[in-house]
Amino acid sequence: MSQDNNNKTPVWKSDFPIKQDESTLISRRKFTKLLCLLSGGLALGTGAIAIKSVACPRARIGGEYFVCEASELPVGGMKSSIIINDKTETPYILIHLAEDKWRCFAQKCTHLSCSVLYRPDMKKIMCPCHEGAFDPETGEVLQGPPPRPLPQISVIVREGKVYLTDKA
Ligand code: FES
Repeated sequence: MSQDNNNKTPVWKSDFPIKQDESTLISRRKFTKLLCLLSGGLALGTGAIAIKSVACPRARIGGEYFVCEASELPVGGMKSSIIINDKTETPYILIHLAEDKWRCFAQKCTHLSCSVLYRPDMKKIMCPCHEGAFDPETGEVLQGPPPRPLPQISVIVREGKVYLTDKA
């Protein structure tokens, strides 16, 4: 076995300069305690999320989902990232097209799922990734690579409040 000439330390030890007393800084007991704390924290976090979802359920599509007061969204305005179904987590955009005209579409582009946004100046729903464009009236593809229209959800405005629903 080759050794350093000066201090007779084997070469392999100089390649791995960890000393025996440093390698035992964390005992098995401490490591186990750390693992227990981490798993306990994880279990608590999961429990908190479960309790929150039971205590404050989001409306499922199939019912009505309150989004906002109609007065909050002027004509040409858009509200994005509306989550109405915890299972799919699909975000939606609500668009106030004209005085009595509202539209709601899935906010994921049908090409590669980039987030689309309404551009009132262009009167289009635009996808910034590959310049796809959709008709804000129907969700149909106007230009670019998206293969399908945007999925649409009905909008109800009742007593000044805006709801999304799949009933209408
Ligand atoms: Fe929207 Fe490609 S992801 S056009």
